[in-house]
Amino acid sequence: MDMITPEPRPAWIAGRPEPGATTLVVHHPYDGSEVATVAVPGPDQVERAVAAAAAVAKEFRRSPAHLRAGALDHVSRVLAARAEEIAEVITAENGKPLKWAEAEVNRAVSVFRIAAEEARRFTGEVQRLDTDPAGEARLALTRRVPRGPVLGIAPFNFPLNLVAHKVAPSLAIGAPIIVKPAPRTPLSALVLGEILAETDLPEGAFSVLPLGNEQTQALVADPRLPVVSFTGSGPVGWQLKDAAPRKHVVLELGGNAAAVVLRDWPDPEGAAHRIATFGNYQAGQSCIAVQRVIVDAAVAEEFVPALVEAVEAQRTGDPYDRNTDVGPVVDEAAAERIVAWIDEAVAAGAKVLTGGTRDGATVAPTLLADVPPDTKAWTEEIFGPVLAVSIVDGVDEAFRSVNASAYGLQAGVFTTDVQLAFHASAELEVGGVIIGDVPSYRADQMPYGGVKGSGVGREGVLAAMHDLTEERVTVFTGIDL
Ligand code: SIN
Repeated sequence: MDMITPEPRPAWIAGRPEPGATTLVVHHPYDGSEVATVAVPGPDQVERAVAAAAAVAKEFRRSPAHLRAGALDHVSRVLAARAEEIAEVITAENGKPLKWAEAEVNRAVSVFRIAAEEARRFTGEVQRLDTDPAGEARLALTRRVPRGPVLGIAPFNFPLNLVAHKVAPSLAIGAPIIVKPAPRTPLSALVLGEILAETDLPEGAFSVLPLGNEQTQALVADPRLPVVSFTGSGPVGWQLKDAAPRKHVVLELGGNAAAVVLRDWPDPEGAAHRIATFGNYQAGQSCIAVQRVIVDAAVAEEFVPALVEAVEAQRTGDPYDRNTDVGPVVDEAAAERIVAWIDEAVAAGAKVLTGGTRDGATVAPTLLADVPPDTKAWTEEIFGPVLAVSIVDGVDEAFRSVNASAYGLQAGVFTTDVQLAFHASAELEVGGVIIGDVPSYRADQMPYGGVKGSGVGREGVLAAMHDLTEERVTVFTGIDL
């Protein structure tokens, strides 16, 4: 795909391509080269998109399931057919290595397919009410109806699949959606707009508006968009929720995910390999990338050197090179900030076991030890290829250490002990516990979201369909039960 086009790439206003009032330029994070120019809609275009979403909401809510499922199936099929080209778009705008971009496209294919399946299944529940005398001969039918048009605000780290996680469930339930992609990575969302425009979705069912972050404030405040689904940084997310107290706000925020290696795990080297891979995938720019590695002293002697070796085996380089494991972070300013956090930890007593430097926007895969628990490399989301290992004495200390965080998205626990697995699930303050693997595991059909500073609400196709709808009860009287 030739990414530089003579005209800026159009925005999608109520399902139609339009040039913008201004433009923005997308740069490749690896070398800063210009990748594409994109239309930025003006206020009248934004108004038309919102008005169309509001106008079509009722009709769309009542549209037949086969229409919505058919559109979602179409998107899934076309994404699969255009996978190679779209992966290149993701790498161009985001800088993640091609192999991770391909994995992202495959996941988006699944997200739309799952949403099509769920759209066909999504029905109500019947409940008998004659459990008490006042309910004799009565029956309740509970259906879920959309809360209303959705504003989906997406981050840069999965420019296709985290947009898919907003668009697919909204369309599956019949809620119009306005997508605001991240300003650095609008291209994948615009390709999605192009594919959605090939379907029979009604006008106004979707818009893709590559707006600047400031222009988004007005959309957040607009009462015609009663649902805001945001994925991104904590400060922005919580500010947005405070700014819209009457709206249904879903926040998928960050974390400093922990992987715990317990003494019964039979393959510490295998755990080290998984942890090194998923501390560094996408240069650590995933909310569930491993950041804190908490290892039982009983296996530390074998595990820590294996982890150093596995981290050192991660190859940095050009994200288009198939041998590259770790590409750049989103820009040089982010790389500078990551190295500053490493330096802060080192000044406070941490040791660099490997890495700790940067070359432009590429941060060397880094492993720290003895990181003081009050430094940012431990307490905050570093969003870079940096792991911090801490040695603890047994399960209780390990789980206390996981929970000693302002965040709680997912945790991974390397154990084969079923009772410990249940204990982990009960004890750890997170939205998801992954037993026998890293916290970075995510299947797109499972509920996904955090507790504490990691957000509110859940994504994952069916979970999001529930979150974006509310129950409506119809009571039938005089029923022959
Ligand atoms: C995220 O960064 O929150 C998304 C992680 C994923 O979808 O794998």
